[in-house]
Amino acid sequence: MSKITGRCIWITGASSGLGRALAEQLAHAGNYVIVSARSQAALAQLAAQYPGKIKVLPIDLGRGLDLSEAASKLREITDYLDMVICAAGICEYEDNLSFNPQMYERTFDINFFGVVRTLNIALPLLKNAQLRPQFAVVSSLSTCVGFPRAEAYGASKAALNYFMRSLRTDLSHIPMDLSLIRPGFIATQLVKNNDFPMPFMMSAADASEYIIKKLQKRQFAIDFPKRLSWPLELWGFFSGPWYKWIAPKLTRIHDWPQFR
Ligand SMILES: NC(=O)c1ccc[n+]([C@@H]2O[C@H](COP(=O)([O-])OP(=O)(O)OC[C@H]3O[C@@H](n4cnc5c(N)ncnc54)[C@H](OP(=O)(O)O)[C@@H]3O)[C@@H](O)[C@H]2O)c1
Repeated sequence: MSKITGRCIWITGASSGLGRALAEQLAHAGNYVIVSARSQAALAQLAAQYPGKIKVLPIDLGRGLDLSEAASKLREITDYLDMVICAAGICEYEDNLSFNPQMYERTFDINFFGVVRTLNIALPLLKNAQLRPQFAVVSSLSTCVGFPRAEAYGASKAALNYFMRSLRTDLSHIPMDLSLIRPGFIATQLVKNNDFPMPFMMSAADASEYIIKKLQKRQFAIDFPKRLSWPLELWGFFSGPWYKWIAPKLTRIHDWPQFR
């Protein structure tokens, strides 16, 4: 288990929250970190704190992304990657069961297809890694059971879970390690408007420290904090009682939605 240092690492979603904390800690540990997101100013400010250790690659991972252009911009910075961490993500809630397809498309576009686009761009450089490469994605513990209002967000992260398990199978003969990171609540922009209890909330710095320790061990499933992941996994296993006793207390929907 070698310490994560001296590596070339690309992190998406690095302008704030968890991605930014990972970038800071990994740069501090002596890695060369390439940071991506849409907010150029936030990325530049981050890079200025770690001169020579952090390089900025502004990217919008949405459907308009030109893959060849992004790949050549990345290749101008490096010709290899030892690790990629996909932390870019958005969260929108299904408040009134309106099934607005655009909201679902926006969520899947970043949370799921953003990861596919990242891997498309990164794979040739991961192949050139100086050490056995690692590809990690940030999913969510919300995928253990069906949470209220999370039809779009949870489904996009559950798609990611399957994508990573399927990829793990297809990489059986290829020397690359995968990690599926499923955090509980982290105090970031993403959850700042949540108006429900968020038990065992962690700081982005603590979450990042935990993730780095597990990436160092090249662990596939990185679920935390354990005091939240264990009960949720148990509820996921015995889902009958969850939907019978817990779900009715959690949902805000008590009648048919208004139809147009
Ligand atoms: N916070 C939690 O409780 C929690 C729990 C479980 C999982 N997660 C997951 O953790 C990851 C990090 O989220 P966070 O909590 O740190 O939230 P955050 O502070 O809002 O960070 C989200 C990051 O994604 C980037 N991003 C959003 N849309 C993008 C786009 N179109 N193209 C490129 N980058 C984009 C944002 O940068 P720009 O806006 O500058 O583009 C930002 O850097 C997400 O995948 C989230 O789903 C969070």
